[in-house]
Amino acid sequence: MHDTTAVATTEGTAPEKAAPAVREQLPQTGEPRARAGRNGNPRYAELYRHYPTIDYLRRGARRRLPHFAFEYCDGGSGKEDAGIKRNWAALDAVELVPRYGVMPSLPPCEVELFGRRYAAPIGISPMGGPAVVWPGADLYLARAAQRARIPYTLGIVGCATIEKIAEIAPDVLWFQLYRAARNDHAIGFDLVRRAQAAGAHALLLTLDVPVRTTRAREVVVGLGGAFHPDLKKLMQMVASPAWTMALRKNGIPRFSNLRAYAGENASINDMVAFARREMGGAFTWEEVARYRERWKGTLIVKGIMHPADAEKAVSVGADGLFVSNHGGRQIDALPAPIDVLPAIVRQVGKRATVLMDSGIRSGTDVVRAYALGAEAAFAGKAFLWGLGALGEEGPGHVIDLLIEETQAALGQVGAHKPEEARSVVIRHDRALRF
Ligand SMILES: Cc1cc2nc3c(=O)[nH]c(=O)nc-3n(C[C@H](O)[C@H](O)[C@H](O)COP(=O)(O)O)c2cc1C
Repeated sequence: MHDTTAVATTEGTAPEKAAPAVREQLPQTGEPRARAGRNGNPRYAELYRHYPTIDYLRRGARRRLPHFAFEYCDGGSGKEDAGIKRNWAALDAVELVPRYGVMPSLPPCEVELFGRRYAAPIGISPMGGPAVVWPGADLYLARAAQRARIPYTLGIVGCATIEKIAEIAPDVLWFQLYRAARNDHAIGFDLVRRAQAAGAHALLLTLDVPVRTTRAREVVVGLGGAFHPDLKKLMQMVASPAWTMALRKNGIPRFSNLRAYAGENASINDMVAFARREMGGAFTWEEVARYRERWKGTLIVKGIMHPADAEKAVSVGADGLFVSNHGGRQIDALPAPIDVLPAIVRQVGKRATVLMDSGIRSGTDVVRAYALGAEAAFAGKAFLWGLGALGEEGPGHVIDLLIEETQAALGQVGAHKPEEARSVVIRHDRALRF
């Protein structure tokens, strides 16, 4: 099913002034954490002590969030989240053989994507309804991305408008669309116009949700359709005071980008019904070509898993390909993106920029993906776990961890810069051959 479970209005919060990227170099050895993180966060050392890795954030999120919110962000499709587990196992199975005696310092990890510089080969994947996980999520994600200068992808079913996020994150804003094809794509094309006017740097078209599927953990907590705050959910909210405070501050989640079409007074459940009615199926290649004609900026097709589809995307004019299995949220039979990545990179060569997500939980995973040909690795759930564990501070801490770990992993394998990770010896037994 689409990630349209429910819901946040984030309007009304003052936009934060864009902060420049902090180009701080890590200390070389010893006590790397007794200092501010890359976002200039003076609380970094304290946060690091409690949450030294993203897995710790996941555990924190499980403890701190209302149960329904954790289940929404953490669950996948199929039997016992088998697809999510496969994504993790596939990344864990990629081994990088280090070379020593070559590292005078920890390497920088800035990269260029589609002609723009970013602080690291990492980014935030588009997410629907992130404000269910943490009210105000879209604003906090955008703010942290702008501060750190990494791409932030607002989803069509995100919970803040494209115009609002453009104020907060003008340098790093990307925008994602699902197919909204009624009336000859009236809503889809209008959103393209709005994204263009707001200054989004890239448009992502998600192709990997052709049908609705079941995420059992959502169903059993009463999500996945109309939202009913029954006694169980209310008790979970009361037991999560920080989450409830965030709800009071940011208001009830809604799909803010669709408000202009669903009606200003549409209730949460009107919005959910509207989204389900208006959006459906995945873009066909002919439709991708029509969006290509309208969208003047960088066009990225998300959900590519087969070299032949990668070829198709290039042939209709995509600038970028996002190798992804939707983080294991569609069906559990799909291979892990890391395992199809090398074949797709071989197929398109330099004709398109290849990005990847699904399963990224550390900077070491980022380097694995980079070494196998992705120009950047994005994450979804990791950022939601950060929000769950740390609220507003979470996204910045996830970015800090990912950047530090990326630099550490590059340094460990003997790469002076990300590109050099491509020449290390890699064991990747699970790689698919087509
Ligand atoms: C709560 C949630 C909502 C999502 N909503 C969307 C969405 O609206 N559009 C989309 O293209 N992908 C969506 N995704 C998929 C992510 O963009 C991304 O592909 C996936 O989360 C990457 O895997 P990871 O969570 O293991 O990092 C969503 C993922 C999550 C966890």
